[in-house]
Amino acid sequence: MKGKKFYIETLGCQMNKLDSELIAGMLANMGYSATDYADDADLAIINTCSVRQHAELKALSKLGHLHHLRRKHGKPSTIAIIGCFAQRSPEYIRKHASYVDIICGPADLDRLPQLIEDARNEKKQIAVSDFRAIRSGRQKYPERLESLDTNRIVNKNQRQAFVRVQRGCDKFCSYCVVPYVRGPEQSRPPEKIIDEIRKLDNVGCREITLLGQTVNSYHCVENGKTVTLADLLYRVHNNCSVPRIRFVTSYPADFSTEILEAMAKLERICPYLHIPAQHGSNRILKLMNRKYSVEQYIELIDTARKIVPNISIAGDFIVGFPDETDDDHQCSLELIKRIRYKNCFIFKYSVRPGTLAEKKFSDNIPDEIKTKRFIELQELQDKIALEDNRNLIGQTLDVLVEGISKKSKTNPSPDGKVQLSARTTDDKIAVFDGTEDLIGQIVPVRIFDVSSLTLFADTV
Ligand code: SAH
Ligand code: SF4
Ligand code: F3S
Repeated sequence: MKGKKFYIETLGCQMNKLDSELIAGMLANMGYSATDYADDADLAIINTCSVRQHAELKALSKLGHLHHLRRKHGKPSTIAIIGCFAQRSPEYIRKHASYVDIICGPADLDRLPQLIEDARNEKKQIAVSDFRAIRSGRQKYPERLESLDTNRIVNKNQRQAFVRVQRGCDKFCSYCVVPYVRGPEQSRPPEKIIDEIRKLDNVGCREITLLGQTVNSYHCVENGKTVTLADLLYRVHNNCSVPRIRFVTSYPADFSTEILEAMAKLERICPYLHIPAQHGSNRILKLMNRKYSVEQYIELIDTARKIVPNISIAGDFIVGFPDETDDDHQCSLELIKRIRYKNCFIFKYSVRPGTLAEKKFSDNIPDEIKTKRFIELQELQDKIALEDNRNLIGQTLDVLVEGISKKSKTNPSPDGKVQLSARTTDDKIAVFDGTEDLIGQIVPVRIFDVSSLTLFADTV
């Protein structure tokens, strides 16, 4: 008898990628096998993001496509929308995409097996959490959610993995939807995290990335004592042999020197921080409700570079926040020059319904100006990264081979060799020609050329 098939597509951040992986494991347990073709699937899932309007529009267009396939081919029989957009706008989705069978927020994903069952028997299923009630203490945080991570099915070929150490966010940056769609900040118990990492270590996983929206504020009380991120890093390091351990994303306030000291001492913690400044002007940082000044941010990065030599820094910037002047924008350019990031994710401000910025300010920077400022930051960042990468030419670096590069995927070479895409310990992308059996291994390569985002290398 033919088994059931599922199709899953993931938008958004690493949290969503992890959720999709955990769900895929859960579905495999239920007897489903994965397919790359939605019109061959019994169940199609779109895991969505709400961080910018563009992400929500993309989710709606993907749903529309699934609906089109179902009308044409009769499949996918069940359509599910999950993740942050599902949590933010269940009613909107129900009204404007009434064909959707399941709407499920990120804090209800453990209930998916039941929802799938119910959707087959009855009609629409909606499962979202009331984070307001949870924050106010009227409702308890759903402990059942922990089972999603605890029951993780580890694939025996898995070489890279995300491990959640923290859920939600309590920072309420004025522009950001995450605290509303992911709920209150919650740190997972260290022993559960270690158990999960041991499972991954046992199958030979080469890299784990600890995930939290503000990962440096991780804190969990255990036998009356608080375990901090620094403590957790020692614990992870001492309890596994995984050669690369990373953590993202760091929030620039409450960043202890103990974390940096742990990074310096523990050789398998990668010298890399993703620590977004968001803006270079103190006036805008205040409006954004970010709880640090540009001066404090610079001091923190200087300290990080002192304690962890060769640490690379990645950042995020938002351009076109309400009332951003040319002078404010200059401050962001100055900060990029001062920090010399490895790479930056730059975003045009997108007003998010329900956030503090939406209530208090008007989205008054015209799109042409947002685009112009976006390009200015990007060009400056590219120039700096290219200059810094040039210093690497001639060096030999260890890289973890992640897979076949985009170039080789679209244009395979006839000689059996492919272009492989790999990463250095400090998170730089390197490409080189090699055989596919290198995927998942850590190998030395020699850099012979660079661009702002890529190191071009040869095997040694
Ligand atoms: N927790 C992480 C980031 C989560 S969202 C942190 O605090 O650093 C990822 C990035 O999206 C943010 O760093 C920010 O730069 C961007 N972002 C968030 N909300 C946005 C909005 N409304 N418009 C544009 N960019 C936004
Ligand atoms: Fe959003 Fe700020 Fe929380 Fe990051 S720290 S997820 S930007 S509210
Ligand atoms: Fe991530 Fe987007 Fe949700 S950035 S937490 S998937 S809103």
